[in-house]
Amino acid sequence: MTDAIDYARYDRIRPIRWTGEALELLDQRKLPFVVEYLACRSSDEVADAIHSLAVRGAPAIGIAAAWGAVLASREIGASDAADAAAELEPALQRLNAARPTAVNLAWALARMRAALLRARAGEGMDWRAALEAEARAIETEDLAANRAMGVLGASLIAPGSGVLTHCNTGSLATAGFGTALGVIRAGVAQGGIARVYAGETRPWQQGARLTAWELLQDGIPATLIADSAAAHLMKTGAVQWVVVGADRICANGDTANKIGTYQLAISARHHGAKFMVVAPSSTVDMDTASGELIEIEERDPAELYGIGGTRTVAEGVPAWNPVFDVTPAGLIDAIVTEKGIVEHPDTAAMRTMFGDH
Ligand code: MRU
Repeated sequence: MTDAIDYARYDRIRPIRWTGEALELLDQRKLPFVVEYLACRSSDEVADAIHSLAVRGAPAIGIAAAWGAVLASREIGASDAADAAAELEPALQRLNAARPTAVNLAWALARMRAALLRARAGEGMDWRAALEAEARAIETEDLAANRAMGVLGASLIAPGSGVLTHCNTGSLATAGFGTALGVIRAGVAQGGIARVYAGETRPWQQGARLTAWELLQDGIPATLIADSAAAHLMKTGAVQWVVVGADRICANGDTANKIGTYQLAISARHHGAKFMVVAPSSTVDMDTASGELIEIEERDPAELYGIGGTRTVAEGVPAWNPVFDVTPAGLIDAIVTEKGIVEHPDTAAMRTMFGDH
């Protein structure tokens, strides 16, 4: 195994671009067949883009919201940081309300508020420039965290292993490289991972539309499976690790992630496969004690009524569309963040790694 990872090959996609005037988001509603950036010129356009999944994935929506705050700072006339803090708040609240489950959104906006407070304390500081610097720092730190987690997570995976992933946790969901997909990239680059399976991730198809597309560009052969094929696949012994991302990791290690993750964890435990959660520490929420306290986003049932715009369900059928679920800590073998690995997570182990906050 070698530690050298060719990032020119494994880290090429950028979902978020700041032009100095606008926030350009690679429109994930249109991938893989249309590769097009959506230009957001106001904070409300960013909030809409987050809500409508033009940008998605926990770290990416945090980064987008931070740049949304920068756009908001240009929409107000405040002359100093003290006035700005009050005037910005409605826009920050709208950004925060765009999606409820991923804690990265609130975390990024809290960092933007704190940057404003620091600018307020610093005599004569340009508070708009301070906000822009903070958004850039959030983005840069996320990329560094992903690269660190990639190597850490891959170190747990024995050579020759097969891995199954869910949803999209790659460059598209982050500043770049990815969380769980970063571990897969590092594991393939270093020779540990022999086979990759990607679940299609109904109803929005993040696995089929996004993960398969990303891995194809890296030359990583990933086999797509229907979500309902996962237990059958694990029974064959082809999967040694299930590797997923997270939207919120609680103080006891309970983890919210894309709907379908929980059933993968149950199936992994039943079949003797290990289960790894990979996320930056910005996804850890030590203020939420356990998973039942997490708000689970429910989206329009219409997302279940068809595929690719073609209706497949008879009119009048009711549907329920929760888009995240919670995997209890007891089913998780390892939580990997840039700060290190928590094996067999529980409240004590989480506190040792992350403190109280
Ligand atoms: O609804 P989405 O596509 O935003 O859900 C994304 C996920 O659940 C990801 O697994 C999670 O955000 C981690 S992304 C690095």
